[in-house]
Amino acid sequence: ELPHISLCVSCPDFKRAAKVVLPRKSYVYASTSANTGLSLQTNLADWGRINFRPRVMRNVGDVDTRRSIFGHPAMYPFYIAPMGTLGAIHAGAEPEMVRGAVRKGTHMIVSTASTKSPKDIMQSYVDEQKRLDNKSPTRLFYQYYMPVDRKKAIELIRIVKECGYQGLWITVDTPLLGKRTLDRVLQAEEALAVGVEEETTAEWETGGENEFAPAMGGRAVAGQLSPYTTWEDLEWIRKNWDGPIVLKGIQCAEDAKLAQQYGVDGILLSNHGGRQLHTAPSALMTLCEIRTYCPEIIGKIEIFVDGGLRDGSDVLKALCLGATAVGVGRPFMYALGAYGTKGVERCVEVLAEELSIGMRLLGVTALDQLKPEMVNATRLLNE
Ligand code: FNR
Repeated sequence: ELPHISLCVSCPDFKRAAKVVLPRKSYVYASTSANTGLSLQTNLADWGRINFRPRVMRNVGDVDTRRSIFGHPAMYPFYIAPMGTLGAIHAGAEPEMVRGAVRKGTHMIVSTASTKSPKDIMQSYVDEQKRLDNKSPTRLFYQYYMPVDRKKAIELIRIVKECGYQGLWITVDTPLLGKRTLDRVLQAEEALAVGVEEETTAEWETGGENEFAPAMGGRAVAGQLSPYTTWEDLEWIRKNWDGPIVLKGIQCAEDAKLAQQYGVDGILLSNHGGRQLHTAPSALMTLCEIRTYCPEIIGKIEIFVDGGLRDGSDVLKALCLGATAVGVGRPFMYALGAYGTKGVERCVEVLAEELSIGMRLLGVTALDQLKPEMVNATRLLNE
């Protein structure tokens, strides 16, 4: 039975709740990771391998948790990471998630692999803003999987621009889908069950409402993910898009530096939630690498991180080391699956409370006071 929402007091609680209500196929889609699962485990574990160095007696009566992304202020320095096929998780799909984000003043990145079209998702944002007299600081950004066909690729950018998305987050860690282990098991089971069960295809798997989706439920749509992308593609993208560009899925210092040289506005250190390369580095490890090998880019371009953040305090660690903001993925997915929009709101509240408690206990009252010397990363770097 689904636990009462008030029993969700930290991120792992949403996962347990989702497991109770979601069909197995949907839960597998959200929770699966690549290969033996080590990339995901590392993402989760590394945040615990650095410690704070808190300061005391600093008057922490009031704290300000606000942070801007490309000039758009949000209530918090975390945003909802782009995740595809939300229709697999909740009947309300992406609009159900968007409403939670808008009500709580958090930014959200909309996936190319969404169940609904970019236009319909933006409409749900506009409607919810209207309901709140346009008072929410929330903005929607767009995660771009580059269509193989150039015409279609440019057409998608045009639509994204027309809809009013505030930035293009180009995913660069997915020339093809990684080996999603639990999903493979499920596929094998389905193949074995052919003839036993008549219907194995869920409605959301067929997509339909979004012609640009390159994958549905974590399974690639044939020929839609482009393995041909190179750094040179940034040139024609730039010609067709005048807003901020972020490369999502940078995993080493060399590429971070290249990204800056190619003139992008930001990079997102990420291994796609441990769903792509086996034993990829955690975003935290890559952030430390950048601090060692190309610290000059910090402050020149925006640096975002995602993967395994499950507590508001984890967010603070990323900011101490130079991140502008962080993405949180699965906790919002599970919260949506279990409780819909109310779950999304609750998940923001949980992270926000941990964030503000963490700030006070660390001895800061605003996010710009977070500094590298407030964390001890020797265990992560020397072990
Ligand atoms: C993702 N992620 C993802 N990324 C992306 O660029 N486009 C996408 O469509 C998706 N889809 C997607 C689906 C699901 C179910 C998950 C869990 C993840 C990756 C996502 O944006 C982000 O990088 C990770 O989810 C962050 O890790 P955590 O917070 O889930 O540990």
